[in-house]
Formats: sequence, C-alpha cells, structure tokens
Amino acid sequence: MPDVPAAVRRLPGRLTAPGPGWTTRADVVIVGSGIAGLTAALRLRQKVDKVLVVTKDVLAAGSTQWAQGGIAAALGPGDTPEEHEVDTLVAGAGACDLEAVRVLVNEGPEAVRELIALGTNFDHTDDGELSLTREGGHHRDRIAHAGGDATGAEIQRALIAAIEAAPDIEVIQHALAVDLLLGQDETGATGVAGLTLHVIGEGERDGVGAVHCRAVVLASGGLGQVFSQTTNPSVSTGDGMAVALRAGATLRDLEFVQFHPTVMYLGPDSRGQQPLISEAVRGEGAFLVDGLPEEGGVRFMQGVHELADLAPRDVVAKAIMKRMLETGLPHMWLDARHLGADFWERRFPTILATARSHGVDPVTQLIPVAPACHYASGGVRTDLFGRTDLPGLYATGEVACSGVHGANRLASNSLLEGLVFSRRIADVLPAELPAWRESATDVRTEGLVSGGVRRELQEAMSSRVGVLRNAPGLAEASVVLDKLAGRSAESVDQSSWEATNLLTISAALADAAALREETRGSHWREDFGERDDAHWAGHFDVRMADGVTTVAFSPSPATDGLVVEEAGDGRHETQVRDEDDR
Ligand code: SIN
Repeated sequence: MPDVPAAVRRLPGRLTAPGPGWTTRADVVIVGSGIAGLTAALRLRQKVDKVLVVTKDVLAAGSTQWAQGGIAAALGPGDTPEEHEVDTLVAGAGACDLEAVRVLVNEGPEAVRELIALGTNFDHTDDGELSLTREGGHHRDRIAHAGGDATGAEIQRALIAAIEAAPDIEVIQHALAVDLLLGQDETGATGVAGLTLHVIGEGERDGVGAVHCRAVVLASGGLGQVFSQTTNPSVSTGDGMAVALRAGATLRDLEFVQFHPTVMYLGPDSRGQQPLISEAVRGEGAFLVDGLPEEGGVRFMQGVHELADLAPRDVVAKAIMKRMLETGLPHMWLDARHLGADFWERRFPTILATARSHGVDPVTQLIPVAPACHYASGGVRTDLFGRTDLPGLYATGEVACSGVHGANRLASNSLLEGLVFSRRIADVLPAELPAWRESATDVRTEGLVSGGVRRELQEAMSSRVGVLRNAPGLAEASVVLDKLAGRSAESVDQSSWEATNLLTISAALADAAALREETRGSHWREDFGERDDAHWAGHFDVRMADGVTTVAFSPSPATDGLVVEEAGDGRHETQVRDEDDR
C-alpha cells in the first residue's frame, strides 16, 4: 500500500512558543519520571557526564504510580520465559515483534530481581516466597505485586528514593517538553540537538527554556486523555508521541489502544481519570455478571474463551461491550463479594477504599464496570535498544512502540517493558552518544489550537474511535478533528500546547484506525469483524514532514502461530508451531 496522505488538516510542525529565556546543558535528557524514565536515569548516571530528568508534574504524577496489578515475569516455580512469550504473542494478536518479545521475557526476571535489590518491597507468601498472581491472558501465576494492589506506587517510591540518593542526577519538575531541537554534527548528519521546555515555578528556570544535549530519552507515558474516560492520570496527553512525530520520528501501531475491561463506572457524565478495578481481582476469583446472580444475572464470559473471565483484555472488553449493547445497559458488574472482607482488606486495600469512597462496598455489593481507555500499545517506533529513526532520540515505556505489545498488551507487561528497555538503552547509549550538534534556529510556526477543544475532541474520540469502530464513525471523527484544528488558540500556554498534542495524536490514531479494515486485538471494527492476515498482517506507520502527516502500511508476518494445550491437572503447555505448520 503506498503512503496515504492523512486527512488534510492544519497541524503545526512545531508548537508556537516564545523564544527560550534560559538555557542549560546535559549529555542526556530523560523526559518522564515513571519506571522507564527513572530506570534509564539510574543506569545512565556515572556512564555519561550529566543526566537531566524533566517531568511535566512532580516525579510521582505519571501512570507508574497508578499501576495496580503488578509486573509480569517468569519468576515462579515451573514457569519459563517461553511460556510468558507465548502468552504475550497470543494477546498481541499476531502483531508483536518476536525478537522484542524474546528480549522482554528473557531479560524480565533479572530486571525484576534488580528492582527488588533497589529496595522495592514486593508482597511475599507466608513461606517467604515472592507472591505471584494471575491476570488476563496469562496461563501461569507470574504477576509480582506490592502493597496488595499498590504495585506501581511502591515501585515509584523505591525509584524516587534511589534518585534522591543520586545527587548527580539533576531533576526539573513541572517541565513540559515543547519540541525537540534538531541540528547537524560536523559530518552534516541531522539529529537531536536538544529540546525546548516550559517550566512553571522552578526558580530561575521559569517559562520556556532550551536544553542542549547529545541525546533525548522519551519516557513520557501514554495518551489516555485523548478519550473522555481513562485510567490514565491527567498528565497523559500524548506529549512525547507528538514531540517525536513533529521532529520526524515514526509512530507505529497507534490504532491499538487498549481499553481496560473493568473500570469502575461512575455515571454517564464522568470525565478524565476513572478508578481501575485491577484484573488481579478477577485473577483472585471475581467474575463478570450482567445482573445480580440471585436475580438471574448471568456469568457471560463463560463459553466466550477458554480462560473465561481471565481471557486476554481485548476479548473481555469486547464481550462486555457486546453485552452492554444487547441489554441496553451502560455497564456490567463485577461480583467479588465471595472474596470476603478480610481478603479484600489485605489483598486489595486501595481498590476497596476507592470503591467505598464512590458508594459501592465490594464486600457486599456488585461493582459497576465498563471499559475505558487504559494503554497505548503503539507509540514511537524503536528497535531492540530503544533507538528511534531520528538519530539521538530514544524512547522507552508506554510512549514507545518496541514491538512487544502488538495489537493488545498482555496484562502487567507494561511496567516490565519500561524496565527492560530502559536498561537496554543505558547499555548502548554511552558508547554511541552522538557528538554535540549545533542546533538550528528554533522555527516558530502557526496552528496552535485552543485548549477549549479538549472536551469535544475527547467526545469524538470516545464515541467514534473507542472500543467499537466503523467507517462512518471514523469519517465523522475525522470531520470533527478537522474542525477543531481550525480553532486557534487564544493564548500560548500549557493548555493550548496539550490540546495541540492531543489533536495531533488523535488525528494520527483515527487515520490509522480508518485504514485498518479488520478486527485485531484491541482494534474492533464493526464493519470488518474478522482478523484479516491476508491483507493486514503488519503495521501502520505515521510520519510528519513540514506539518503534513502520512500513513504507510508496512507488512510483516503474523507472530502468533502458537498452540496452548491443556496438559491435564489444570496446567497448560505452550509450543511455538513451526512456520510450515501455520
Ligand atoms: C490491572 O491491574 O488490571 C492493570 C494491569 C495492567 O495494565 O497491566
């Protein structure tokens, strides 16, 4: 398929911003302070002269802090990286990069052990073993967790403590990455020369400034705020992806947005970050129902998939949506009453407190749940060492598309991806640190959109580019986005920069979703209900040059020719089928 020009809409090739009022230098700038960013910083320090971490809010404000379920790795007795690989590939619906998945599952156990050595307190059994649970799509108990359901908060705590004990790592909080600065080295090669930041209230560094550097590592998280309801915190406005796209890097697999099946339903008007009910609750025995079982409510996941309520996330989200459409109800329910008060208080204290704060007691009541945006499986395309196709730019964690998630991320592989690929970046970057590049003039362009477009944008994306998609809806979304692109910003500020980033990423996502005429993983087309390997095994890559976006299809063989066999005693055996047998 030739490159397809995306819908004609005016999107800035750089954000309008005042000239830098201050400057600084660092060898490597890391954008983001979750597990990916802080791991990269801790491992790069002492390997390069100066590491600077910049983060849009405070260090703990990103998605890592909110992760509940845990971090997956083959750490349990009898488990193997090969089995973790098979589960990852099956969840990814043929769109994973096999080599990247192998890196993830093989290096995962050691990376988690290092996180423990750093001081992360994971939960243990009474026998002193690491306590491992199960989530959707896993055939083994392999999810390490902390504080019951506060895994991300504990990892974030341990990482921040390590950063605070490393005074050679400089940190600037309340710093939005505006755009990359590009430049040429002495050989004439173009690449990253720095980035512009907007900093609020950090002493002398206030307002827009320029950081000159030799490499940038994007670890800035996802894009959940593109949708009306999401599990992501308010900082997840797709900034890193938009910055990379504008600078010439490739975004891949943007259409594969994961909708978490069990997000607490707070009513039709609720907006922004919503409470997650971890898949681990189902891992411990909770199940989905379409009404009170005592009054005839049915466990509708039974018969849908061999893993029933613990099927991969896309399968569960689709089954919930299907049942919502059939019944006309705005949500389904999770029944976890049988877990009992003691278990709830010990294993899921955060979720219990949150549900109760919203007037639902999971010990005695069903929890209303509906799918909401949870995770961007796509992002800035990278190789196995986090390198993007722009020299000097690296990406890791949710902002990146390393190839491990394919069309649907396996539960609890996200923290692991950030950990493993940040270690890899730190392994190669010091030796390949580019020469300083002279940064070209920072060209200002027009086209900043008003911060006031946010709600309309989110509504268009949720209603037409959400869990269910079809050609007319995607075309309507495109029309709305075109209209919003013409709504100019009244002022140059964080609200309009974020809105422009949201619009840039929404447009790319909607364009890719319209072109992928099949159903695969978390991309569900009502008008093309089947997966179609004959036409759509491969990836959509989005690029921008001079403010014009194009989408290109890059074919690659499906990577899930696998079998998962019942081996008796409730155990499963997994094997990779030979290419010839597929
Ligand atoms: C969950 O706890 O259900 C979310 C875990 C994940 O997103 O991997």
